[in-house]
Amino acid sequence: MAQEIKRISPSIHRKPSPSNMEKGKVTYCTDLEKSVIISNFERRGWVQVGPEDEWNFYWSFTQNCRNIFSIESGYRMNDNQMINHFPNHYELSRKDLLVKNIKRYRKELEREGNPLAEKTDLVLPSGQVVSRYLHLDFIPVTYVLPADYNMFVEEYRKSPQSTWIMKPCGKSQGAGIFLINKLSKLKKWSREAKTPFHPQLSNKESYVISRYIDNPLLIGGKKFDLRLYVLVTSFRPLKAYLFRHGFCRFCTVKYDTSVTELDNMYVHLTNVSVQKHGGDYNSLHGGKMSIQNFRFYLEGTRGRAVTEKLFADMQWLIVHSLKAVAPVMANDRHCFECYGYDIIIDNTLKPWLVEVNASPSLQSTTHNDRILKYKLIDNIFSVVVPPDGIPDARWNKIPTTEALGDFDLLIDEDLMEKEDMNTRFCKFQRVKQ
Ligand SMILES: Nc1ncnc2c1ncn2[C@@H]1O[C@H](COP(=O)(O)OP(=O)(O)O)[C@@H](O)[C@H]1O
Ligand SMILES: [Mg+2]
Repeated sequence: MAQEIKRISPSIHRKPSPSNMEKGKVTYCTDLEKSVIISNFERRGWVQVGPEDEWNFYWSFTQNCRNIFSIESGYRMNDNQMINHFPNHYELSRKDLLVKNIKRYRKELEREGNPLAEKTDLVLPSGQVVSRYLHLDFIPVTYVLPADYNMFVEEYRKSPQSTWIMKPCGKSQGAGIFLINKLSKLKKWSREAKTPFHPQLSNKESYVISRYIDNPLLIGGKKFDLRLYVLVTSFRPLKAYLFRHGFCRFCTVKYDTSVTELDNMYVHLTNVSVQKHGGDYNSLHGGKMSIQNFRFYLEGTRGRAVTEKLFADMQWLIVHSLKAVAPVMANDRHCFECYGYDIIIDNTLKPWLVEVNASPSLQSTTHNDRILKYKLIDNIFSVVVPPDGIPDARWNKIPTTEALGDFDLLIDEDLMEKEDMNTRFCKFQRVKQ
C-alpha cells in the first residue's frame, strides 16, 4: 500500500509517561486518517494525540514504526504502549525475504530429519522428474534476480514451456509486474530496463521471478485470488488468529493463457488497484466475493470434503509461513500485526501463497467492504488490548472467546505448551495412582 511517511524527528520524541493513563484517558495516534480506524478508537472513548505526544496505541505506517524502533531514535516504549507493526515485518512482507525465510525453514527441518520436510518426486510435463516438499510446497518456485539468475536458468530449462512472473521486490499493488514465457524476453528486458541486472543492485531494485500458476481455479471463467487477514500478537511463542471474513478478488476479463494476452494485466493480476481501471470493473461488488459465498460455491460444485481440505490447507500454509519467520522476528511485546495474505488456488484445489502484506488496504471499495474493514479493526483492538481496555505489554495475550470476535485461533504455542503440560501432569497422576 502506498504510504505517506510522516517523519518523526528522533530528537523531539518525548519519553512517554503514564500521566494520561492516571487521568483515566487512553490515548491513540494514527498515521492513517481513515474513518474505519478513527471511529473504532472513538467508540472506545480514546483520545487522539500526535506521534510526539504520550500515546498508548499507535496505528502507524511501517516506516514510522521502524523509525521508532531504530537505535538512533532513542525511544523506549513503556508498558502501556502498543504499536501495530513488528519492526522487521519485512522478513514476511518483502517478496524476496519471504521466499528466503521459507527456503531456510524447510532446509532446517530437512537437516533435523523432521517428517514435515519429507520430499516426493514430481514428473513435470516435460517428463523431467523433480523433487518437491510433500507438505511444505506452498510457494511457487521462486528466485531472486539478479542474484539467483543462474539457478533460475537451470530451473527454466527443466520446463521451457512454462510461464514465469516477474515482480519488483520494492513495489506493491501490481506495479511493475510482467509475465515472461521465453528466456530471451527476460534478457531483452534486462538490456532495456532502466536498472539493468547488475550483481551489485540494491535490494530495492531486485525482482523475484516465480513460476506462474497457470492453472488457477476459475469462477465464471475468471481468475481470482483470496485476501485473508491474519493477526499475530506474538512470534515467540507464536500466537496467530485468522479473520473469518476474507474475500476473493476477481479479474474483470476472462482467463486466457494465449501468448497474445500475456501482457494483459486485466487477465492475470487480481489486484483491485489494477482491475478498477478496467472498463468492465463493477463498482457495486468491486470484483469481490465473500469467503463464505466462495465456500458455499465450492461445497456445491466440488463437495464438502475437498472444501474442508482446502481451508485446512490454507491454515497450514499460514501457520508454516509464520513459523518460517518466527526465529528472525524482533518479537517486541509492544507489537502486533495484521497481515493481508494473498493466496491463489489452482484447479486441483491446491492453495499457493503469493505474498504477505504488512499494511493490507483499509480502503473500502463497496458497502460490504466497509462493514468488513470496520469489524476487522474492531476485532483486532479487542484481541490485542487486555480485558480492562488498557493497552498493556505485560499482558499474557490470551484473549477471551468473546474478545476474539470473528477471529479464529490458528495457533497459540503458549496454550499448546500448557495443554501439553496438563496432559503430561495427568499422565503422571495416573502413573502415581
Ligand atoms: N506465481 C503467481 N502465479 C499466478 N499469479 C500470480 C503469481 N504471483 C502473483 N500473481 C498475481 O499477481 C498479483 C500481484 O502479485 P503480488 O505478489 O501480490 O504483488 P503486489 O505486491 O503487486 O500485489 C497477485 O494478486 C496475483 O493475482
Ligand atoms: Mg498482492
